[in-house]
Amino acid sequence: MPSHHIQPVRSIQGELSLPGDKSIAHRSIIISSIAKGKTDIYNFPTNQDCLITFRLFRKLGVRISNINREDFTLSIEGKGLYGLKRATSPLSVNESGTTFRLLLGILAGQRFSTTLITAHSLARRPMRRVTEPLRRMGAIIKARRVINLRSSVIKERIEEYPPITIKGGNLNRISYKMAVASAQVKSALLLAALYAKGTTRILEPVKTRDHTERMLKNFRANIRIENKFILLRGQNELTSPGKIYIPGDISSASFFIVAAILLPHSYLVLRSVGVNPTRIGLIRILRRMGADIRIVPLGASFSGGEPVADVIVRSSKLRGVRVSSSEVPQLIDELSILMLASCFAEGQTVICGVEELRVKETDRILSMESNLKRMGAEIFVSTYRSSSGKLRERIVVRGVKCLRGARVNSFGDHRTAMSMVIAGLIAKGRTVIDDVDCIDKSFPGFLITLRKIIK
Ligand code: S3P
Repeated sequence: MPSHHIQPVRSIQGELSLPGDKSIAHRSIIISSIAKGKTDIYNFPTNQDCLITFRLFRKLGVRISNINREDFTLSIEGKGLYGLKRATSPLSVNESGTTFRLLLGILAGQRFSTTLITAHSLARRPMRRVTEPLRRMGAIIKARRVINLRSSVIKERIEEYPPITIKGGNLNRISYKMAVASAQVKSALLLAALYAKGTTRILEPVKTRDHTERMLKNFRANIRIENKFILLRGQNELTSPGKIYIPGDISSASFFIVAAILLPHSYLVLRSVGVNPTRIGLIRILRRMGADIRIVPLGASFSGGEPVADVIVRSSKLRGVRVSSSEVPQLIDELSILMLASCFAEGQTVICGVEELRVKETDRILSMESNLKRMGAEIFVSTYRSSSGKLRERIVVRGVKCLRGARVNSFGDHRTAMSMVIAGLIAKGRTVIDDVDCIDKSFPGFLITLRKIIK
């Protein structure tokens, strides 16, 4: 497991274009595969997770042209809603949670049975949030079940984990109020709803990233929003728009954005980044903390209803703020880097409703808390009851002005690893990060890209 040594730098400056957004990329393969017609996908990111989705849809009988490594273009011959083929062996999803949960939604609509297997970290991530509503729609699902006697809520004592075998077909509509704010769960249900009789209605506790809704609309699905419910009428074929351009990944951008803010005399331009309002929670919070971040919208392209912009960032002084639990879903993947930014803010930053971080690739509260504390950060994690009686968690970070280099660990988690690389650039002294290979899960070129802008 390779380690990475980092020395502090003075500033970062320059201009970058980033690989395509991971969330949009998964959806672009999945939805193009079950649509009628051919779709060309531009700026497809060649990270480990997206390549898993690419391989699995090939195994389900979809013709996808090889990725051209020069310009990252894919071409998909859509099979229509009912054209997928049964895979000849269990499908290995490796570590990609988005692939796993969204694929469950698609497989719920297929008349054949499929087994999904995973690598170790995904095997520990909860799946009942998806399996339960899919069963209510009519899917037959067998999962590994674990009983947690420590849970005080009886309903939550049984959890389900991969491997999962699913057989679908004959789905019925569902009217469903989601308990967890999760775009993966919502998307799995919308994809299953494409196969269901009647109109499915989904209500989210808080609005999460809406890439699935936007892309389904772009593929002419019968989808609309009414009184906060997402409504989708099933059993209508989707039609390809012909082309999809995937904007730069705002989650990958977040590491460079925070580095530019914290390092003095920095100036960074990020070209053609996706700025979907349900994804830019970090930018909203950083601006509230005093950061100088400008969003320059680009004209409509063939990005399929996804807003794209250049993002311009300058070094800034930050002050601590309060982040409410309703803001968290729109910066869920950026909380690790926000924890780092908060260490350098004047005063205290309080981030409420962060418990979902415990069930990411690793427990990201634990990984970031222990790493940043080794570098001298002051972080406190506590539980509280929300107004509805739910047990929740909050993180309090006290600004310390300065971190010191230390030996830290990625805990096998790509976003923890990238956040700690940025911490190492800003800290005093040398930082060593163990096990950085996991960065390839979302951003294989991260360290090379970073080197280009270090001054
Ligand atoms: C994702 C949704 C989020 C996010 C993940 C990608 C998606 O997960 O953390 O990296 O593409 O829908 P949850 O739905 O579990 O919050």
